[in-house]
Amino acid sequence: MSDPVVAAKKDAGIRAANMVKDGMIVGLGTGSTVFFAMERLGERIKTEGLRIRGVPTSNQTAMRAEEYGIPLTTLTLHPVLDIAIDGADQVDPGKRMIKGRGAAHLREKVVADAAKQFVVVIDSGKEVAGLDAAVPIEVLPFACGSVAGKLRELGGDPVLRNGVKKDGPVISDNGNYVMDCAFGAIADPAALEAAINNIPGVLGNGIFAAMTGKTVVIVGGRH
Ligand code: A5P
Repeated sequence: MSDPVVAAKKDAGIRAANMVKDGMIVGLGTGSTVFFAMERLGERIKTEGLRIRGVPTSNQTAMRAEEYGIPLTTLTLHPVLDIAIDGADQVDPGKRMIKGRGAAHLREKVVADAAKQFVVVIDSGKEVAGLDAAVPIEVLPFACGSVAGKLRELGGDPVLRNGVKKDGPVISDNGNYVMDCAFGAIADPAALEAAINNIPGVLGNGIFAAMTGKTVVIVGGRH
């Protein structure tokens, strides 16, 4: 494998998948790094007879799970998960992060919150001294205008995310719009996460600052 970033993502994914034990219920995140973890889980199911079930965070992840032979279940049947594995877009030294490049952050946060342990798989390019990326925010379409106004009051610059191979706004797996809202350097991620969530019409945002105590970060290529 020639691309060092892809190699790092694969290394992180494989190491996370190797943490999964027989019988576990596993939260399955979304994105290129966690897909390497899922590929390895599929391999372990075939070669070791590992018995697990996964809770997918997106339609894309559910399709990948089918491809890799990972049986799925739901949060209704398993409200508490043993472990969740997911990628991230930025991670700071306090294990706070920004997620949602793939617009799956709403379900990703629900699944991570339900898990006893949250394993985050990244390449070193995702490590930052302080969070400063635009924050993905899932918004009820009806409330787009009012939410944008409130985000500006918080000092943000919200932009409605548009589709790459689709005209008009990106529609999340939950049927909502996504805004990317730049705030510059985020001094207090936990306070901003809560303030955004407090706006009526916001369904969730991509700052993950409230689960650092159960978070393990695996940086691919660094052992
Ligand atoms: C999905 O919406 C995101 O939160 C991803 O988990 C995040 O963007 C990481 O993706 P990659 O592993 O593809 O970089």
